[in-house]
Amino acid sequence: VTLGVDLGTSGVKVVALDDAGRLVAEAGRSYPLLTPRPGWTEQRPQDWVAGALEALRELTGKLATMNALPVALGLSGQMHGLVALDAHGEVVRPAPLWNDQRTGQAVAWIEERIPRADLIARTGNRAVTGFQLPKLVWLRETEGEAFARTRHALLPKDYLGYVLTGEMRSEPSDASGVGALNLAKRGWDADLLSVLDLNRALFPEVVPSTAVIGTLRAELTGATGLPKGLPIVAGGGDNAAAAVALGLTSRRPEVGSVSLGTSGVVFAPLTAPTPDPEGRVHLFAHADGGYHLLGVTLACAGALQWLRDKLAPEVAFDTLLGEAAGVPDGADGVTFLPYLAGERSPLMDPDVRGAWTGLSLAHGRAHFTRALLEGTACALADAFEVMRPLSRVSSLLATGGGARSDLWLGLVSGALSVQVARSESEPGAADGAAILAMPAAGLHANLEAAMEALCPQGTPVAAEPATVARRQHAEALAQLYPQHAPAGQPAS
Ligand code: XUL
Repeated sequence: VTLGVDLGTSGVKVVALDDAGRLVAEAGRSYPLLTPRPGWTEQRPQDWVAGALEALRELTGKLATMNALPVALGLSGQMHGLVALDAHGEVVRPAPLWNDQRTGQAVAWIEERIPRADLIARTGNRAVTGFQLPKLVWLRETEGEAFARTRHALLPKDYLGYVLTGEMRSEPSDASGVGALNLAKRGWDADLLSVLDLNRALFPEVVPSTAVIGTLRAELTGATGLPKGLPIVAGGGDNAAAAVALGLTSRRPEVGSVSLGTSGVVFAPLTAPTPDPEGRVHLFAHADGGYHLLGVTLACAGALQWLRDKLAPEVAFDTLLGEAAGVPDGADGVTFLPYLAGERSPLMDPDVRGAWTGLSLAHGRAHFTRALLEGTACALADAFEVMRPLSRVSSLLATGGGARSDLWLGLVSGALSVQVARSESEPGAADGAAILAMPAAGLHANLEAAMEALCPQGTPVAAEPATVARRQHAEALAQLYPQHAPAGQPAS
């Protein structure tokens, strides 16, 4: 069996897949999220390691009863976090995460030194609050002593790889989320780092996503139950790894994915790096040697969870969704802007906030829910409008909790004007990490062959009309941004 690890934000998940890609066993552990100040999110890298080792121990215990022998382990995890290590490889401070908002000034400082167009041409992205690069600038400005001790800046899964093997490595799909990787070269941009006065030596060597970074340290065989000398494979950032598990390859750029999770994510594989000139969606390296666009909306299924918790805590999601299905396109004039946590794509505005508009005495809970489903679908459509002309995507495979609803998925299909299919199985980043490790174990000739052999198909979902919803959404958004029509909105 091949193992995959997904070092997520709520917890770590480990899986074992057989040679045909079937799930043989899995295990997981959760760990705390620290919010020491409003807008700050951190985790202790030591908690990740403890959770991962325990989960691996549980997994190998299960595998032993089946006589299944691990042949390789691939890594994936939450992107963008900063693990700062000192000269001895010890953690300097807790790691700020991908959704941390503390770096506003650092982003402005970077943009003063490097014109946005230049940064996008080099890295595929503008300076983004959540990325690792502004976190380093923040550390230097704010915690000078901690910065002075910092010799290495690693991403979360690459830190776990270091603990497992003693080797510091990264790979392009996650490294491109730092904000300092030259996308064309798939290596650190030395000019950019020198303008920002950051030492190139802070960053690990970047190897291909399917490369072996090292073998399991002998001291860890006892704690994990893993075999001596197990090859550990670089893997991918969680979005790229999840895409691998869905079979999304840059050789077939027509098929992308949409995930209706806590946040909403649209993924479009690309053969060549084509950034949005304004950086309203992300452009990252894909783990298969190509590239991909990523649109991230910060409130999706998380918004429905919020509505349920605040307004209808005793009511089942299926009841709320059933009520909403009886309300027509446009929710009888109610509009919900879903920016409960600010917004990334395409608005790139951490300070924008949500709103209900168009309320009357005639409206009730069914309208609120309907408007929320429409609003989250329209927010995804805004991101997709930026991606559409840059990519060749004509259909999307859907995943995530929200994708279980025909209505919600139909609204996404209607709002984006694109065919959406529900994935039959729901593989995630951990499965993708395992698939990324298969070629190193000699299980398939290369990643393409592994993906071809293993990855799921989808069943198309009927689109729901969302024409009225989209018009109302555009009008409500124009009220928030009167000066200019933001991305994805008609200019009029
Ligand atoms: C992507 C992003 C998130 C994290 C979540 O840019 O910030 O999807 O990778 O783990």
